[in-house]
Amino acid sequence: MSEVIEFNAEAARRIEAAYLTTDVVAQRMAVHEALDIRTGERVLDIGSGPGLLAHELAKTVGPEGRICGVDISDAMLEMARQRCADQPQCEFENAEACTLPFEDETFDAVVSTQVYEYVADIPSAMRELHRIVRRGGRVCIVDTDYDSLVIHTGHPERMRRVLEAWDAHFVHADLPRKLAPALTAAGFEVGRRIAIPIFNPEYHPNAFSYHLLPIMSAFARTQKGVAPGEAEAWLAEFEELGRKGEFFYSLNRYLFSARRPNS
Ligand SMILES: C[S@@+](CC[C@H](N)C(=O)[O-])C[C@H]1O[C@@H](n2cnc3c(N)ncnc32)[C@H](O)[C@@H]1O
Repeated sequence: MSEVIEFNAEAARRIEAAYLTTDVVAQRMAVHEALDIRTGERVLDIGSGPGLLAHELAKTVGPEGRICGVDISDAMLEMARQRCADQPQCEFENAEACTLPFEDETFDAVVSTQVYEYVADIPSAMRELHRIVRRGGRVCIVDTDYDSLVIHTGHPERMRRVLEAWDAHFVHADLPRKLAPALTAAGFEVGRRIAIPIFNPEYHPNAFSYHLLPIMSAFARTQKGVAPGEAEAWLAEFEELGRKGEFFYSLNRYLFSARRPNS
């Protein structure tokens, strides 16, 4: 198995385009609702990526609040800093989810979307999350369960090979089903859990899949088990299906709210 995906400048640009689509705007709205951030609060975004959520949160906390973003990708951090340059209450630094550079109980709320599926040691990451959120503070986590992925194709064997190759891009393909016990073991009270479906019955630039499928194809090209040209042909089929009105892509993400108890 190859290394997990590298969030370099090109990947950061593609992810940003995917995260500007209506599908992921709706996901961020669900996160805002779950976190219920108030003016003046201190909030951490773990794996802040292109900084879209941090920028929105900064407007909510206002100048009296503080938004910290951490990420292990310098390309993502640069993108986030540029996006949030008009929000001086936002700061970003290079840090890993299991070793956060903050004092105990620094934050009123902590959010992490689409990150823990790349983190090998979930019990350690959950303990670190618990350490840096204050007693009574809130946590919101979103991750994907890749068994929920349904993509229509006329070439099922090729689809199977490309999806198997894609599996190597994360550490946990099925994190959501294990997250509630992991949060509980770390000392959190698990609250509301919801599914966030991404359903694209059309192939167009405002669909999440339109941007994600090229990322999947590019990654699959680097993996064993996918023949030369196969990942390119796999991607080309979606244009054709789109033209014929036969495109179908569906995937579930899951949002978990949790709270660190007061005592
Ligand atoms: C799919 S992107 C999600 C970005 C952002 N959270 C969002 O939803 O817009 C995953 C991000 O997690 C970061 N990441 C991956 N592993 C990490 C780790 N162990 N610690 C901190 N960040 C990590 C990546 O660099 C990347 O920016």
